[in-house]
Amino acid sequence: MKKIVSFLLLSVFFMHIALADEGMWLPLFLNKYNIEDMQKKGFKLTAEDIYSVNNASLKDAVPIFGRGCTSVMVSDQGLLLTNHHCGYGQIQEHSSVEHDYLTNGFWAMNKEQELTNPGLAVTFLVRMEDVTDELLNGISDDTPEDQRATQIKNKSVEIINKAVFGTHYKAKIKPFFLGNRYFLFVEEIFTDVRLVGTPPSAIGKFGGDTDNWMWPRHTGDFSVFRIYADKNNKPADYSQDNVPYKPKKFLKVSMKGVQQGDFTMVLGYPGTTQEYLPSFAVDLIEKLYNPHKIALRQKRIDIMGYEMEKSPAVRIKYSAKYAGVSNSWKKWIGESRGLKRLNAVEKKKAIEKEFQIWADSKPELKAKYGTLLSEYEKAYAEISKYQHLTNYIGEGIFSIEAVSAARRFETLAEVNSETSKEDIDANKKTLLAWTEDFFKDYYQPIDKKIFEEILIMYSKNVDTKYKTPTFLLIESKFKGNFSKYTNWAYEKSIFTSKQKIVDFLSTFSHKSVKKITSDPIFSLFFEIRTMYINEIDVKFSQLQSAVTVLDRKYMQGLMEMNPNKVFYPDANFTMRVSYGKVDDYIPKNGVKYLAFTTIDGIIEKDNPEIYDYDVPQKLKDLYYAKDYGKYGQNGQMNVCFAASNHTTGGNSGSPVIDANGNLLGLNFDRNWEGTMSDIMYDPEQCRNITLDVRYALFIIDKFAGATHLVDEMEIVY
Ligand code: ARG
Ligand code: ASP
Repeated sequence: MKKIVSFLLLSVFFMHIALADEGMWLPLFLNKYNIEDMQKKGFKLTAEDIYSVNNASLKDAVPIFGRGCTSVMVSDQGLLLTNHHCGYGQIQEHSSVEHDYLTNGFWAMNKEQELTNPGLAVTFLVRMEDVTDELLNGISDDTPEDQRATQIKNKSVEIINKAVFGTHYKAKIKPFFLGNRYFLFVEEIFTDVRLVGTPPSAIGKFGGDTDNWMWPRHTGDFSVFRIYADKNNKPADYSQDNVPYKPKKFLKVSMKGVQQGDFTMVLGYPGTTQEYLPSFAVDLIEKLYNPHKIALRQKRIDIMGYEMEKSPAVRIKYSAKYAGVSNSWKKWIGESRGLKRLNAVEKKKAIEKEFQIWADSKPELKAKYGTLLSEYEKAYAEISKYQHLTNYIGEGIFSIEAVSAARRFETLAEVNSETSKEDIDANKKTLLAWTEDFFKDYYQPIDKKIFEEILIMYSKNVDTKYKTPTFLLIESKFKGNFSKYTNWAYEKSIFTSKQKIVDFLSTFSHKSVKKITSDPIFSLFFEIRTMYINEIDVKFSQLQSAVTVLDRKYMQGLMEMNPNKVFYPDANFTMRVSYGKVDDYIPKNGVKYLAFTTIDGIIEKDNPEIYDYDVPQKLKDLYYAKDYGKYGQNGQMNVCFAASNHTTGGNSGSPVIDANGNLLGLNFDRNWEGTMSDIMYDPEQCRNITLDVRYALFIIDKFAGATHLVDEMEIVY
């Protein structure tokens, strides 16, 4: 096995880079596989300039921001840029009626005014290392799966401990190429990260959910933070004595702007892709899973939107929830359309046909891969039933707010005469605080309508055998009238109002448990969960594990079949390099989208009547005065640009870098026509969307007057 793996990946001397611009590459292997191609496309630096263990390199300027975004260092005093939607949680946390930073923006005019963010961390990659050989030492294709898993688990602990010994670093090991290779990542984590500035939402979230996933785009999606360290420049929890962190590397900021065709590179942390799925899986996503998940979210979106339209107070309560629900909803719509348009299933089938012919060509191959595709087909036919139901539970029943509230009370429902008073009191205290928080943003008419509609959809679209007692009750006692049942349940349940929960908790004793277990909404949660555990969980997990093994073998086979092709591993929230060019595209017949937008487009979209398009007066004044300073070019102020870098969720806040290693902008989104790139990339249609850094600096300097921040940066012309 060891030999085969090395052969698979390391013996590729004649490289053949698959398709233009597709791929999320490992920084460690750029020298081997990509650098020539990158340089041919215009890149002026070396692979060492991007990733080096011994010298400061670009990787040292690109940390993970929080739990799911990327960011970039832009000064020697720890200043960092990321997206507005990445800092949103922190900005919201600091916002109140008196200081509404979401609406008005916030700018620290000196370091004392910067705001601390408990719980926020920024993570730098110190180094990465291929540990496959050590981890899989002695394992062969015939090793039983559980033995393989145990060895991987045990060896990982050893390797990690050795890697961080005597340092303040953290380490982790992650599988690549669907379990064919393993890499170690050593990281340095900073926890004193302060909010320095954010534009108002009217700039940072301009276009809102209407423009989300769309090109052409005009969103100023950025926010500014600063990392602090102790006196030795080491990570330390918040302290007044901490000082701005001096990064090993920060990016210079380019004022040159970009032209159609210019080389661009994105360094960042793409979260998840599934580029090597078999046709069976892609077909299910396109035609079964996505359509139902979209329909379930559509209901929630319609109901929320309707009520938000009626009342500004409701709009404020539900804006973050709405954005969350709508983000994936819209992505899935684009993804299914894109897969269809690309004929992705047919393309996958063609690869599989070739694979089968190859696998049947020699006895050894036949023994290893001959039945793989038919096993896949069988597994997916089984899995789809469970996955479909799971989608209706996750995207349906458990997405109902009152159900999620009931779920929180499960531990309290387990209280009995043995439970100590201390435990009960502690539990009550946590739940009270949680209740307070939960109902701050709760509006019962929305939740109640969603409850009714989701229950109707569930009962229509899942197999009758998964109808739990609640559904039988609706049929018998309520004669199939969901509306009557909903009215009754919302009246009777304690989980539909803050007051009812607070009253319940304040008089709680172990005798009150029955009130939870007989609650109609708690019952619904509990039945569904019990049904899942008893009838789904075990079988579903087994099938998933079986598919994981098939995935690993299929990937291994694909690599063995194409020894001259360089494969990139699926995204797994580890650092990657994507590269491509600034590029326009043709979204549909007869229409061409340019690769740039300017402030003219903001003024075109301006509409004080529509919340998402209400341009701040100050921005309009700057526009009419054409007061763009050094950030404008030829009397224009550029805002965003589109390019062909292969990116995904997690790449938000990633620096988009020019041929010389300077900062051009911040990645924040993709175009709707291209969101299938998580499953299949199309160079004609897939574009990443970048905020032009000049617009960000214009907002910081001219709009907000925080010129001192621009002065901290190193600008190149
Ligand atoms: N679509 C982008 C990404 O997936 C941005 C999401 C945030 N913006 C929004 N309007 N919901 O994360
Ligand atoms: N908007 C995404 C993010 O937040 C980026 C993408 O999916 O293209 O990471």
